[in-house]
Parts: sequence; structure tokens; C-alpha cells
Amino acid sequence: MAKQRDTQRAALRSSTTAVTRIQAKGKPKIGVEEFMSLCERFGFSKATLKKLRTMVVKEDWGQGPFLANYYSGLKETKVQAFERVARTIFGVNYAIGVSSGTAALHSAFVAAGVGPGTEVICPAIGFFATANVVDLVGAKPVFCDVDESLHMDPAKVERLITDRTVALVPTHVMGGVCDMDAIMPVALKHNLKVVEDCAQSCGGTYKGKYVGTFGDLGCFSISAYKIVGGGEGGLVVTNDKRLWERASQLAECGGLWRPDRFALPRYEGELFTGTNYRMSELEAAIDVVQLKKMPATVKRSHAVKMRILKRLKPFREITPQVLNDPDGDVGYLLRFFPETVELGQKILEGLRGRGINAAMRGKNAPPDWHIYCYMYPLTQKHGVRRGDCPVADDLFDRVITIWLNQWYNAADCRQIAHYINATLSECCTPDQKAPQWC
Ligand SMILES: Cc1ncc(COP(=O)(O)O)c(C=O)c1O
Repeated sequence: MAKQRDTQRAALRSSTTAVTRIQAKGKPKIGVEEFMSLCERFGFSKATLKKLRTMVVKEDWGQGPFLANYYSGLKETKVQAFERVARTIFGVNYAIGVSSGTAALHSAFVAAGVGPGTEVICPAIGFFATANVVDLVGAKPVFCDVDESLHMDPAKVERLITDRTVALVPTHVMGGVCDMDAIMPVALKHNLKVVEDCAQSCGGTYKGKYVGTFGDLGCFSISAYKIVGGGEGGLVVTNDKRLWERASQLAECGGLWRPDRFALPRYEGELFTGTNYRMSELEAAIDVVQLKKMPATVKRSHAVKMRILKRLKPFREITPQVLNDPDGDVGYLLRFFPETVELGQKILEGLRGRGINAAMRGKNAPPDWHIYCYMYPLTQKHGVRRGDCPVADDLFDRVITIWLNQWYNAADCRQIAHYINATLSECCTPDQKAPQWC
């Protein structure tokens, strides 16, 4: 039997019919149909789709485009271009394009040394993703109450610090920005890392400097729901090489970011197990264009809000949301607090009756992942409940939010301001001594 096998092997070795040239010729893996599918997703009309098809069908794409940020042979991939634009706009040394804002936070927290047995101070109002990632890495989120800016109250941070605290997450919410002048000294005094969550305020500034560039690491969601992004994406920025390396290691454990991916660790903490959070080339192709447009988008959006705010009259029963830096607010939302939920209900009816897109949560509203007390299952696991952050509980119920649009012109702004004033005049008392809008 063994002899027979040896004879067969020898015959194969000496065979002249060895495979020399493959004749099969298939179609490219990715070609015209995939491109047309993408065009359909953009929402082009049938007529435009027809035109596009006649244009691209003539092209020979060979094996088709390679849509990963990975050994592409290009001078610069779309993800690299996105990262380059991010470095330029934010004025930072390092940027990493990742697959989501959650991925950005995960990479940043691990880079910053957040792990089992540690604590991170998170805001009471923001989004579930932030505290969720703190828990994911085995740490405990500790919620800090907000002030009338709806951002983390700097005066309440210090008392939450324990010997397990390693980081703070100032979260810039709904186009607004945190009071960074008050937060940074607390972090410095206690030697804490600062991971800024800028998912909802990409392009916001504090005293002329982009949020995301104050702390050790800045995280952004670049998703379809945000002012930059077409699908799902994220961004981490930092000026610290080691933090960039550690965040890259978590986001890209294949080590492609290293000069020699197979080299031994160059220092303790450089290498550890991670994930694949690479941004796709398809996403980056959209995002690189959008990110370049971001400063102009923010400028328009900010101008609309300021135009409206400047025309609003003060009323005794109304407290406008405090803007930690009115010049740096992204401006896609206008918010204020009526004295009570009942008054808020009346105002809401008036605003909506006049065609203004407004909302208020009110009492007995369904759970909402933007406030700490509904962040199930974190609440259950860490013993968090409504009442822990009373200012957030109260303000979140009665804040009235009006959605603005960056494309409103001066006449649109005048109209909206006029109808807000008209509604408030019906329900409230004009009072020059009441808090001004800006
Ligand atoms: C404050 C905040 N952080 C993080 C995220 C998570 O971003 P992504 O949905 O891209 O994972 C969001 C998403 O809305 C957010 O609002």
C-alpha cells in the first residue's frame, strides 16, 4: 500500500501536465452593478441613474476597486485623506478614522488606561454609547449632574473623584460645548485623562479652539445622524503619539499602523489584543468631502441660531439654555426652559400651531438613552437611578427644543423669531430683567 502511494507521488512529480496557466476568466468582484447600487442609495432620479450607467459601463475596472484601507498601493487611501483633513482642520498631530463614534470612544478609553477596577466621570445628559463603553472595558461610569447649559457641571466634578478615577468625559451635547476652562484644571489637579466626546458637536469651539482638542483625546461620531457623515464612521484625534499608538492598537490590532507590524513591543503597553474598527474606503470617500465642508456648515448653522436669538425677547418665566461659549455653538438646536412642564406644554402647542418644529419631553415620557437614569442595563448594574442627578432630571423634562436649519435665510430667521416671540408673549410675562437669550 505504502509502496503504491510512493509510486503515485513520483508520477505526479514527474508529470508534464502540471498547472501552468489558469484559463478561467471571470467578471470583476466589484463592478458597474455595485456602483449603480451605490448611486441608487444616494437617491439619484431614474433619469440620472440611466445617464450614470451609460457613462460608467464603458469603463474597464479590471478586478474592480479595492475598498479597504489596507495595502491598496494607492498614494493615499480615502481613509488616509480623511485623517489628513482631520489633522489639518483640528490642528492636531494624529487622527484615526474608525467605524463609529462608539469605536472611537472604545479606542480612546483603552488608550487612556481605562480598564477593570477604574472609574470614569460621565455626564448625566449625553448618550448611552459613552457610559456603555466605559462599562464594556470593565470600568464604572460615575454620572455627574449638569448645569443650565445641559453640560457636565464643573462645580460637581471634583466631589465624584475617587482613587479609582482615571478619566473624565466632557461630552459636548446637541451642538453646545462644555465649559472647558473650568473642567481642565480639575483634571490636571487630579492627574486625570480627559477624553472629550464630541459626537453631537463636531465643529463646535470653545474660546476659538475646536472641541476635541482640549483633552488628551477627542472622539467624534461621523454618522448619517451627525453634521458630518453619510453612514457609520468615527474619528479619534490626539496630539500624543503614545495615545495615538495605543488607540490605533485597539482599533486595528493587525498592527498596520506600526512601522514594522511584527516587531517586538517598543515599550510596555504598546501592544495588546484589540479589534478591527477600520473605517471603510466607501465611508471615507463620503466623509473626506463632508469633513472639508464642515467649517462652512457650522458657520451657516451658527449664524442662523445667532440671528434668531438676537431677536428674541426676555420673559420672566423663561430661562434660555446657558451657552458656555455663544460664539462656538454649532447652532442646529435652540433650547430654553419654561418654569414648569405645564407652561411648556402650552408654549409647545403655540409653537407647533405656528409651524415651528419644537419638542418637549414632559412628565411620564418613555425612556430615553440621552439621560443617565434610563441607560439600562448600566443603571441596574451600577445602581444608578433617577434622583442621583436632580438638575438633569428636572431640566431634561422641561427643556423645549427647536430644530433649526443651516439654510434658513435672514427672512426665515426673522419669521421664526417673530413667531417664537408671539407664542411666548401669549403664555409668559415680558420682563427686561429676565435672562437674555445671548
Ligand atoms: C454623545 C455621543 N457619543 C457617542 C455616540 C456614538 O456614536 P456612533 O453612533 O457613531 O457609534 C453618539 C451617537 O449619537 C453620541 O451622541
